[in-house]
Amino acid sequence: MQPDDYAVSAEFYDVLQAHQDEIRVHHLYGRDAGRARLGVLDIGAGTGRVTMMSLMESRVGVHAVEPARAMRAPLMTRLASLPTELREWVTVHPQTLEEAALHGVADVAICHNTIACLAPAARQALWPAVARALVPGGSLLLQLPPARLPDKDIMRVFPRQRVGRHEYGGDMLMSADGDRIRTRFDYWVRGSGNALREHIETFWMWPATRAELIGDLEKHGFAPLLRRDDPAVLAMTLSSGNNVLHSRRP
Ligand SMILES: C[S@@+](CC[C@H](N)C(=O)[O-])C[C@H]1O[C@@H](n2cnc3c(N)ncnc32)[C@H](O)[C@@H]1O
Repeated sequence: MQPDDYAVSAEFYDVLQAHQDEIRVHHLYGRDAGRARLGVLDIGAGTGRVTMMSLMESRVGVHAVEPARAMRAPLMTRLASLPTELREWVTVHPQTLEEAALHGVADVAICHNTIACLAPAARQALWPAVARALVPGGSLLLQLPPARLPDKDIMRVFPRQRVGRHEYGGDMLMSADGDRIRTRFDYWVRGSGNALREHIETFWMWPATRAELIGDLEKHGFAPLLRRDDPAVLAMTLSSGNNVLHSRRP
């Protein structure tokens, strides 16, 4: 992690992507969050879509782990607007999961749109921290990274959004670069048809197959759960025991 990671994207993340992603995270993980009996862990919480969904769908405490200051700022603003009684149930950990060193705090861990952004060594460092943070019998739901490098460039254009007199837009371009995927985000703001601002932020992504991730996680005590309806998600359970503790909200 670099101290200014997401410094550009954080401003545009919610306005360009939040609405669609909110629907998606409810669809992908809503039922799992609803079944949590101890706690929900949001690994790489970003600006808080999974955190908010977990707070709404579950009756347990939520741990949001987000090391990047730029992403944590909108997350905290979002949480600050919640009623105090609900805010009591969410804890923000301002480090990587490895640094946060959480022990047995959750029976459901969700890692949405995060694994792809971790280099292989960082991914390997994450798994023991996930195993520590979960109780035995707990489940890990993770959004799979791209399985391989793209054969040709892939572009995704974000639908334009109006904010007052200005229009916000952008696109994401993914291209193979050695063994990584260069992911370039271009953002723009226009007013009266004129460009007011343009910004670029580039990230790296590392492909990994479902089989590779299952193999890695098995070394840390996880076993695969049944395949999900949505092939984008891998579901694993932390083996041994069924002694999930209960810690429900009143
Ligand atoms: C692409 S963003 C996705 C954020 C959010 N999950 C979403 O989908 O909107 C990936 C996030 O993972 C966070 N992250 C990176 N490494 C991490 C680690 N080791 N532990 C926890 N979070 C991490 C980054 O700071 C970043 O906010």
